[in-house]
Amino acid sequence: MDETGDYELDHIMLTRGAISERISELAASISGEYGGGELIFTGVLKGAVIFMSDLVRSLDRSVDARMDFIAVSSYGNASASSGAVKMIKDMDTCIEGKNVILVEDIMDTGLTLSYLKDTLTARGPETLRTCVLLEKPDRKKVDSILDYRGFTIPDEFVVGYGLDYAGKWRNLPDIWCVTKR
Ligand code: PRP
Repeated sequence: MDETGDYELDHIMLTRGAISERISELAASISGEYGGGELIFTGVLKGAVIFMSDLVRSLDRSVDARMDFIAVSSYGNASASSGAVKMIKDMDTCIEGKNVILVEDIMDTGLTLSYLKDTLTARGPETLRTCVLLEKPDRKKVDSILDYRGFTIPDEFVVGYGLDYAGKWRNLPDIWCVTKR
């Protein structure tokens, strides 16, 4: 049986236009702070891929942007975080003495981002900042660790623009709320 068969798209929470506008603002802030220097964007697979792709293309060309990726496992195919974070793929770049931005699609409990921030901080970057498209403050279990935030959203199950349920709906250009059938 299709694992997503019990769920359906309900309504759009954030349109592609609103997402694009907000990303331009985030990119302008980042460009203002890092223009002229090298900056390593580190995306957390798989959800952050689409957000990071649009973010780096919105930067001022004075930013020497590099891209790398990390993969972790936390949710599996479930819709709630297990809390256990495991690194599946490390980044390739040595970040000692470098400026790094950790890019995520969503911060739910914050356990994933907190684990990654601690792990990368131990490697001695010059600066390490976090950039997350969506934050669910209602579910947060960690202290504030966000430097750049796209939107705060209510505790609803969302898909699209990189976010999935059981691997599905990442390709949708808008962000949708999903409900049980
Ligand atoms: C999602 C999201 C974050 C994490 C956030 O990843 O991309 O990595 O969960 O949850 P937390 O704040 O409660 O730790 P997921 O495990 O769904 O993998 P994916 O990016 O491949 O979809």
